[in-house]
Amino acid sequence: MQEILSSVAAEIRIDLAERSYPIVIGSGLLGDSGIYQDIPTAATALVVSNTTVAPLYAAQLTQALQQRYDKVLLVTLPDGEAHKDWPTLQLIFDVLLENGCDRKTVLFALGGGVVGDMTGFAAASYMRGVPFVQVPTTLLAQVDSSVGGKTAINHPLGKNMIGAFYQPLKVICDLDVLATLPSRELSAGLAEIVKYGPIADMEFLSWIESNLESLLAREPRAMAHAIQRSCEIKAWVVSQDERESGLRAILNFGHTFGHAIESGLGYGEWLHGEGVGCGMVMAAHLSERLGLVDKLFTERLTHLVQRCGLPVRGPVLSSSDNAGRYLELMRVDKKSEAGEIRFVVIDGPGKAAVRSAPDAMVRSVIDLCCA
Ligand code: NAD
Ligand code: GLY
Repeated sequence: MQEILSSVAAEIRIDLAERSYPIVIGSGLLGDSGIYQDIPTAATALVVSNTTVAPLYAAQLTQALQQRYDKVLLVTLPDGEAHKDWPTLQLIFDVLLENGCDRKTVLFALGGGVVGDMTGFAAASYMRGVPFVQVPTTLLAQVDSSVGGKTAINHPLGKNMIGAFYQPLKVICDLDVLATLPSRELSAGLAEIVKYGPIADMEFLSWIESNLESLLAREPRAMAHAIQRSCEIKAWVVSQDERESGLRAILNFGHTFGHAIESGLGYGEWLHGEGVGCGMVMAAHLSERLGLVDKLFTERLTHLVQRCGLPVRGPVLSSSDNAGRYLELMRVDKKSEAGEIRFVVIDGPGKAAVRSAPDAMVRSVIDLCCA
């Protein structure tokens, strides 16, 4: 058998008492059976992937898992945000039931955030909960969605509206898989990396500004550092507030505007990271209008988002009342309370807060920021 050469660049622990787990970042991890040694063995493992990722990476993962599981099944879902729905979720349950999978069966999510969120939700619900492992293959999934246990599917009326908090046993971030990621998806992942600067660590924001060319060139050392620091910040936040009763909401900086763009245009038209990038610019303008940051801060963030290759102007969602349509969409948000929209704003560089704002102020931001 061919020897797999793997190297672990970093290991971060997410501290959640009996639900604690490691996030491993490195090269050559996917096909290294040693990486899976600490995951409980069982009769069956089910790899959940999609039509794009499975042909690229499912064989490597399956071969490594065959050394620990009697039977390794694969279910290949249709690709795309538009398929993050009930019928696609059902395909996972079909395979589990058709193969008589018991409650020790381990699910492996091999893909981006869509596969990860759906596999996690399937794991949370099948027989009221089976173990699962995240093997994220997009930059966005490695720095954000695979960590922290938020699982969900979309509803036509709102994004990620149906789901559960359910933690994986382990997160395995193999840097090598990023080589095949389309540039547009790389930029989408950079949006979530940039997010961690203004909400928690301005030194990291400066580091991103200085190293952006290396990140865009997928230079492994720069990538490893960006993923490590992002996961450290996310682990720090989630460890304090697993179920988003307060602090965790700061991870949604840019998401209120971004989700409105995603659902308003129809899922899949703009990438999630594109919505977040543009949404951060809009949220920075709102923070400025609330008197929390100065114009220079908004300009700095806008420039960086643009350099990442992300849109900084929002789309027009309605030709009759564009701002009204954004407001209508933003009210369907998990942070809303009694119909009042709550935004993550920057309350001074490196610090985020959740605030409401007068509709007139939000309208003026939308009018300013939309093409
Ligand atoms: P995605 O899962 O749709 O993946 C993007 C595209 O890249 C897809 O076409 C996918 O097939 C392809 N792909 C994946 N890995 C590849 C690789 N290595 N090489 C080539 N192609 C590859 O999108 P995403 O940006 O990874 O995730 C977005 C989703 O994550 C959204 O649904 C969002 O709501 C969710 N999300 C969840 C959380 C959370 O905390 N659970 C956080 C952020 C985002
Ligand atoms: N991506 C936001 C969160 O995990 O809370």
